[in-house]
This record gives sequence, C-alpha cells and structure tokens, in this order.
Amino acid sequence: WPELHRIPHPPRRVPLLGDVLGADRRRPLQDSMRYGRELGPIFRRRAFGKEFVFVWGAPLVADLADESRFAKHVGLGVANLRPLAGDGLFTAYNHEPNWQLAHDVLAPGFSREAMEGYHGMMLAVAGRLTDHWDRQLAAGRTVDVPGDMTRLTLETIARTGFGHDFGSFERHRLHPFVTAMVGTLTYAQRLNSVPGPLAPLLLRTAARRNAADTAYLDRTVDELVAARRRSGGGDGDLLDRMLATAHPVTGERLSAENVRKQVITFLVAGHETTSGALSFALYYLARHPEVAARARAEVDRVWGDTPLPGYDRIARLRYVRRVLDESLRLWPTAPAFAREARQDTVLAGEHPMRRGAWALVLTPLLHREPEVWGEDAERFDPDRFTAAAVRARPPHTFKPFGTGARACIGRQFALHEATLVLGLLLRRYELHADPGYRLAVGERLTLMPEGLRLRLERRQRPV
Ligand code: HEM
Repeated sequence: WPELHRIPHPPRRVPLLGDVLGADRRRPLQDSMRYGRELGPIFRRRAFGKEFVFVWGAPLVADLADESRFAKHVGLGVANLRPLAGDGLFTAYNHEPNWQLAHDVLAPGFSREAMEGYHGMMLAVAGRLTDHWDRQLAAGRTVDVPGDMTRLTLETIARTGFGHDFGSFERHRLHPFVTAMVGTLTYAQRLNSVPGPLAPLLLRTAARRNAADTAYLDRTVDELVAARRRSGGGDGDLLDRMLATAHPVTGERLSAENVRKQVITFLVAGHETTSGALSFALYYLARHPEVAARARAEVDRVWGDTPLPGYDRIARLRYVRRVLDESLRLWPTAPAFAREARQDTVLAGEHPMRRGAWALVLTPLLHREPEVWGEDAERFDPDRFTAAAVRARPPHTFKPFGTGARACIGRQFALHEATLVLGLLLRRYELHADPGYRLAVGERLTLMPEGLRLRLERRQRPV
C-alpha cells in the first residue's frame, strides 16, 4: 500500500502494541466494527508493527470482487488454521495445485442432483432435533439453541458427507469433536492478538491444548477414513469422492494426506457457520412474532400436511429463506474474507496497491452500509430480500458466502439444510425468547449468539 498514510487509523496508537490497547481480544470482529463506524469505509489498524487494512464501503468491496485484479488472500485467522487444514479447500493458497484438483473432484458433490440425494438424510437428522426438543418441552425445559443447532449441523454434514454418526443427540454434552474444533478456532483467533514471535511464550498453555485438540481431530478423521476403507465404499458421498474419484481431465487423485485435510475442512466448515446462521435466525424469529407468524403461514401453505416435505418443497419457502438471508445480513457467521491484488493496481481508483497487498472485507459492516441498505440498516426486515429489492441493489453488496472462485462451495447445502430445519421448527413450535436476553455475539473466528435459550410451545395444529 504505497499511500497507506491516506487511510485513516484510530487516533490512539501505542508504540509496539499499535492499536491493540483497549481492544476487545475476545471479540476482535466487533471491535473492528466499532472502529469501522468511526473511521469510515476503509481504515487500518496496526498491531505489533504490522498494518492491516479493513474495507467495508460498497464501491470498494465491489472493486475487490473483480476477479481479474484480485483473488482470495489466505491471511490472519485463515492462515492460522493451516496447521490443522493445510492445503484443504478453505485454507489452500491459490497457487497450490491441490486446490484446483479438490475443487474439480468435489464440486459435483454439491450439484442439484447430489443435494437431492442428501435431502432424506437432512430430514432424518432434523427429526432427531425435533425428538430432542419434544423431550425438552415435555420436561418443562428451555432449549439451548447454539448447542442444539451445532448438534444438528454436525450430524448433517457427518452423515451426508461421510456416512458417520457422531451420536450428538444422545449426548448430554457436545461431542468432543466440537470441543476440540472450537478450541482450535479460538486459538487461531487468539494468535492474531499476540506478536507472532512471542506466541509460543505468551500462549504456551493454549498452544499445548491446541496441539492436543489438533491431534484429536486428526485421529477422529483417520479413524473415519480407515473405517470407510475397510467397508469398501459408501453410497457415493463426499468421502467416496475424496477417496476414489479421479480428476475428470488429468486422472489425478487426492493423496491420503490431502484427504485428511479435506475431511477436517468439510467437517468444520460444513457445520460451524450453518449452526450460527440457524441460531441467529431463531433469535430473530423469537424476537419478531409477526415475522414468525408470516413464515409459519407460508410453511403451512406450501407444505400442507405432508409429514416429510420433498426436496422441491424447500426452495418454495421463499419467505423463510428471506428470514435466513436477513439474519446472514446482520450477522454473517463467517464475518470477514481477505482479498489480495494479483498485480499492482489502484483500488476503486483511489488507493494504490502493490501486487500481493491485501485487505480484509468486513461483511457485517458492508451489510449495514446505509447508502445501500438505508438509514434503518440495523433493523431486522426480511422484505429487504424480495426479488424486486434484490434486483434494485448494486451487485456485491450481500456477501455472506464470500466471492469469486474461492467463494463457499457449500452455499446451497447450507441454505437447503437451514431452510428445511427452520420450516420444520416453525411448523411444530411457537418460539419464545426470554425477555431478559440481550443478544451477545460470541466470536471464535465464526459468530454465534451466546447463551441463547428459547422456550417452546407445541403448536395447536402440529403435523
Ligand atoms: C468458503 C461462508 C457453509 C464449505 C467459505 C467462504 C465463506 C463461507 C465466507 C469464503 C472464505 C474466504 O474467502 O476466505 C459460509 C457460511 C455458511 C457456509 C456463512 C453457512 C451459512 C458451508 C458448508 C460447507 C462449506 C455447509 C460444506 C458442506 C466451505 C469450503 C470453503 C468455504 C470448503 C472453501 C472454498 C474454496 O476456497 O474453494 N464459506 N459457509 N461452507 N466453505 Fe462455506
């Protein structure tokens, strides 16, 4: 960034530490959102002698989405996950050959046809959730929303992708896989808050725990893969593709080490963010009874009395999907992505960048940009996602799934799963939030409404 001095930064800077003093280390994203609101659509923060550029203004983000001049940057939190996920799809550098290979081999696993194949399993897992919620209701208990959404989404990806059953609903506590995963995500986030060379010293205990968590995750995955190899193949799921499918053109296959990285990647990326998205959507539904009533009426109309809605009935829940989009607008659960210049260029005609220079896009602020979303951008309103409203907005203003070649491969999977589950829950229960609950957004690279519990009431006309 040759003209970095033109980019605003917080007024209070401390030698060595930079802008970290007063920063909320447990909530770095929300901290950056605060700075962004003060400093404007592009700003920088310094930490330990390094400058980081943040961007959220719509014209700037639209320019960063230009794939001919910019590409994904593997930095900060994503780079910190490399020891765990290596050159798996999410953490691979653009130049690593395994990215293209795995992308081409796995993309058919997310085709419409593949999704139709997962639908029955998704319904079955959702049934486990409603059984669990029925039991909680019968016992007069409230439900733990983030915990149960995590149980649901972990089971869904594990069973549809890998034929594996973690038994999440049979356990009182979350599966140790989840605890280890949250541990590594939190550690990857904490690494950003200490100077790199001092990390081994400052985070010694945490580093030891992280090594144990990583080893546990590796072991779990190795056992899962070994079981599949012994059984001689599943029903063509993601794991079969990883193990047995050759690249359609080159005939190459994924190596055993790369398969391990992909399985970890999909087990983590495939459930953590969807769980958060469902949790925020349930929070907003409970807080906006008029929205919930409208969504419920749609479910009744579109699904009728069909106990198990077919694949085609999910995408027809247009309003439920808008609720989900609006929740992902306010709290995109993977709240940032980084873009780097492919060659020397000028960002939005104003900020010169050298090849390799990069910026972090803060999606929660992009999604609240008043110029795009209006002065009431902080207000929850699913009608911002009617077809007409979407058409009227400039492109690249809603980016919860990232952008370009490295955008989320699981987008349709997540949307199908989440819409299906919201439909089933709305049809079965009335959702009541504790009036005393104040939204607290927890961060572990991803976002989650902390401590959210709901009181359920069985609907009068349940199916
Ligand atoms: C990439 C968000 C669900 C697998 C991404 C990226 C974002 C994202 C923002 C781009 C990150 C970057 O540019 O650095 C989300 C959200 C989800 C979700 C908000 C749920 C609401 C899923 C699911 C799967 C998945 C269900 C798998 C079944 C991946 C993978 C990548 C990715 C493998 C890396 C793609 C690549 O670089 O080739 N996701 N995701 N995600 N996501 Fe998702």
